[in-house]
Amino acid sequence: MFEINKLIRPSLRDLKPYSSARDEYEGEAEVYLDANENPEGNYNRYPDPLQRSLKNQIANRVQISSNQIFIGNGSDEVIDLLIRLCCVPGQDQIITFVPTYGMYKVSAKINDIEVLELPMDENFQPIVNADNPEWNNPKNKLLFLCSPNNPTGNLVKDSLVEDLLSTFKGLVVIDEAYIQFTKENSLINCLNKHNNLFVIQTFSKSLGLAGARIGMGFGSVEMIDWLNKIKPPYNVSVLNQEAALKKMLESQENASSEVDRIVQNRKELEVQLGGLKNIIKIYKSDANFLLVEVLEGEKMYNELLRNGIVVRKRKEISANALRVTVGTKEENRKLINVISSLAV
Ligand SMILES: Cc1ncc(COP(=O)(O)O)c(C=O)c1O
Repeated sequence: MFEINKLIRPSLRDLKPYSSARDEYEGEAEVYLDANENPEGNYNRYPDPLQRSLKNQIANRVQISSNQIFIGNGSDEVIDLLIRLCCVPGQDQIITFVPTYGMYKVSAKINDIEVLELPMDENFQPIVNADNPEWNNPKNKLLFLCSPNNPTGNLVKDSLVEDLLSTFKGLVVIDEAYIQFTKENSLINCLNKHNNLFVIQTFSKSLGLAGARIGMGFGSVEMIDWLNKIKPPYNVSVLNQEAALKKMLESQENASSEVDRIVQNRKELEVQLGGLKNIIKIYKSDANFLLVEVLEGEKMYNELLRNGIVVRKRKEISANALRVTVGTKEENRKLINVISSLAV
């Protein structure tokens, strides 16, 4: 039986969180003399620490209660706070399935937390083995799974996620940074069925706001309360909140057209790359990038750079693996031109 209070670091269980001026007074006043702000200026006031307007918009969109939403300074902050909330430094452990997004391990290491890296199969699906004695180690507090996975681009099968949720004793964190590029439903819909599930999404990918640093966490009311207790009081600036709210309102009008365009461009890019002699393999992607195996990866990377195009080396896959983000049609054309000029 999963109990959130047992998952919280013992030293935090009696934490009295910092109470900011904006926590103690909610609503509109005529004169604010409570937070030692400068009385003049455009951005002279502290932001809403609980980002209520933004959460209300998101709640409407994803059909969840706003007290099941956490907003972080990017989803990287959400990852870090989950680790800090649940794992005792020098003692506890998180589980990941590799290859995957690098920040789970980096955040764990920064917090002096061990990482148990379990393998995926040849289709980059996690190998779930609940008989592995390490699986039930009480040190395992969090399991991070990315779907669609970065850098491989594939979705994880629902049945495997179900296996994880039913056998893992800690919190299962599903990182859905790229979910909007797929036809699959978000696991947010399953939150009320599984209280050991936590879902992460971001404004950085399909919503095009990587510069504004807005990450979202969706979980049980208790888990969100805990995250609110340990976060820096004003973790999301007024500017970030404004940018995200504006984006929510705009994207109501042109709904999924941006995402459709990126997915269409990905399909075209896949066909074009597939026709080139120096591209050995293109992995099936449900995200806004393609993982490719090429002839002479290092050389291609450097040639692309020399032509002003930056892609990402993915050495954990192979020495010749590159991860290419889907750009505009024009950017993709430039990429294809450079790669095909290397093939001759
Ligand atoms: C799987 C995954 N999760 C989280 C992030 C971080 O996103 P954010 O910009 O919200 O911090 C990334 C960024 O590339 C990512 O690929």
